[in-house]
Amino acid sequence: MSVKQKRRIKYAALILTPACLIVLLALVSALYSDSSAVAQYTVPPEYQTCTECHDNSTLITGKETAWETSLHGTGEAYLRGTSKSCAGCHSGGGFSNMIDAGLEPNSSAMVGDASPTRQTCRACHQVHETYTGGDWALETTAPVSLYVLPGTTFDGGEGNLCAKCHQPRTKAPAVAPGGTVSGISSHWGPHHGPQSSMMLGTDGAGQEGTPSAHYTAVQDTCVTCHMGSNDNHTYTPEVATCKSCHTTATNFDINGVQTTVQAKSDQLKSLLVNAGALSCTVDEEGVEECAPSVTSAPDNIAYALWNWTYIVKEDKSKGVHNADYTNALLDASIAGITCDATPVLGLGQPQAFWGSYADYQAGVLSVTYAINNGGGTTAFNVMLTNSSTNNGVTVASSLPASVGNIAGGASAPVTVQYNIPSGVSWFNTANGATAQDNCGNTFTFGSQPA
Ligand code: HEC
Ligand code: HEC
Ligand code: HEC
Ligand code: HEC
Ligand code: HEC
Ligand code: HEC
Repeated sequence: MSVKQKRRIKYAALILTPACLIVLLALVSALYSDSSAVAQYTVPPEYQTCTECHDNSTLITGKETAWETSLHGTGEAYLRGTSKSCAGCHSGGGFSNMIDAGLEPNSSAMVGDASPTRQTCRACHQVHETYTGGDWALETTAPVSLYVLPGTTFDGGEGNLCAKCHQPRTKAPAVAPGGTVSGISSHWGPHHGPQSSMMLGTDGAGQEGTPSAHYTAVQDTCVTCHMGSNDNHTYTPEVATCKSCHTTATNFDINGVQTTVQAKSDQLKSLLVNAGALSCTVDEEGVEECAPSVTSAPDNIAYALWNWTYIVKEDKSKGVHNADYTNALLDASIAGITCDATPVLGLGQPQAFWGSYADYQAGVLSVTYAINNGGGTTAFNVMLTNSSTNNGVTVASSLPASVGNIAGGASAPVTVQYNIPSGVSWFNTANGATAQDNCGNTFTFGSQPA
């Protein structure tokens, strides 16, 4: 650098320093006078209603903080929202579109959501519809017709919002006693949030129940218990809510209902594992995952599998949503796969008679047999399956003949008609019957048809 250049820089610095000071002073004074300008700022009229929500309070952020810890705010199930059959419940945006269009989750007009969202503020509230505080109104509170259970409606006030998604997608199987249920897969069950049908006492396998006291007595159902009086956006129930009715409650295990349900659930799980219908594995974190390991099963096993899945994996309230129905399903499921002793059938003394003069003329003889159940437990669906004859006598009735259920130690009559050729004065019969135990296992007695 030359001497001339150095001098030029020194000169510039001399001029710049006072200039900087002037600018700085101007800025400081501007800051002071601006502090009053900020306070005077007014939101333009067209945006004033925005401040009914967007102000410096925690109105939004307070709810956000709670929501972010909930499964609605953390779960990954929203990713399924890209598929049209899942979008209505799994994507928050898909849900709002479904409600706006008046569709059901399984409507053919449903479309997948290309950018699915979690179950966000906008899914449950009408955020940014009128751009006023009125937009906290819930997306829907209309009664919910459970779409896989025609004729069944969930009408639980604000809880209808929840039930629109937390409803079953599959109807419980129904087959004749002793029949076989097929179509079982590893993710078999009502799927996956059937809390509304549990409250109504329906969609269990093998029996229907009645709506719980919580459906009829708790105003706004789900919302009251899961969000309390403080709009708790973690959706975790609090004991304080229970206390308004169960005044002495210290936890959810009122009258030990959850303890009992847990014990019965564990017992049923072991029975299903022993029957080879359920298989359980433990992952690295020690969490046990159980899933059906059969594709078809006899009704009693299938019903027990369905009910266990419904109660333990899907409803998850351990009886709180509907204590009576939960217990009834567990009891019947356990009894159904704990088989009673084999029924023991025998034949009592037959009574032969002509049913009418016309029968006499036609040679049609009636014989009433008494079928005795010598066992200590009920014989179900008893059938007289076969009656073999001699001396040219043939059976006129159509067999098998249904006898119904016979309690242990009791007997029931069944009448069979025979064609007697003229001149025949006696004949023998050899009879056969079948009966089922309480599990639907079939047993045979006597001589069966060839
Ligand atoms: C009913 C309350 C409410 C009103 C009124 C409201 N907003 Fe919002 N706004 C929200 C909520 C809730 C969010 C979403 C917050 C979230 O999802 O994290 C949001 C988000 C936003 C966002 C962030 C970008 C986005 O869309 O998520 C902007 C910008 C916004 N609002 C602008 C406005 C303007 C402008 C108005 C008025 C014309 C307005 N809001 C009125 C509740 C409201
Ligand atoms: C748009 C559909 C939708 C609505 C509406 C909805 N949920 Fe959910 N909910 C879900 C889905 C999907 C999950 C699972 C999220 C995941 O795993 O990613 C879930 C999860 C939950 C869980 C956590 C379950 C667990 O296994 O821990 C609770 C509790 C819950 N919801 C309660 C409610 C309540 C109460 C309401 C009503 C105020 C409600 N939900 C409304 C779809 C919905
Ligand atoms: C009627 C609403 C509805 C529909 C339709 C629906 N789901 Fe779900 N699903 C839910 C709810 C609610 C949950 C959360 C249940 C809970 O945690 O209690 C859930 C949970 C799940 C889970 C998590 C289960 C778990 O135990 O972690 C998977 C996986 C899932 N759904 C897959 C699907 C798929 C795939 C589809 C489409 C083929 C679908 N769902 C359609 C309501 C629905
Ligand atoms: C799963 C559904 C659901 C989701 C998701 C949800 N809310 Fe709510 N929210 C409710 C219900 C139900 C109420 C109670 C409504 C009532 O009592 O009128 C409520 C109440 C509120 C209220 C009080 C409204 C009033 O009128 O006083 C605010 C504010 C609110 N929610 C904000 C939010 C925000 C912000 C988000 C997102 C971070 C959010 N909510 C997400 C269901 C939901
Ligand atoms: C009487 C109060 C009450 C009502 C009404 C109620 N719940 Fe529950 N819910 C509970 C309790 C208590 C639990 C069990 C919590 C526990 O044991 O940790 C539970 C469990 C659940 C779970 C499993 C949560 C988990 O973390 O595993 C979901 C999901 C759920 N309820 C959703 C609903 C929905 C949806 C409705 C309405 C259709 C509803 N609940 C109605 C009290 C209630
Ligand atoms: C609005 C009133 C009300 C609220 C709130 C309420 N319950 Fe109940 N609950 C009832 C009624 C009524 C019954 C049936 C009568 C009975 O068995 O005491 C019942 C029965 C029960 C049962 C079955 C008891 C049995 O012996 O069969 C359990 C478990 C239960 N409630 C748990 C809860 C829990 C946990 C909460 C809070 C999350 C709760 N309840 C909130 C009214 C309520």
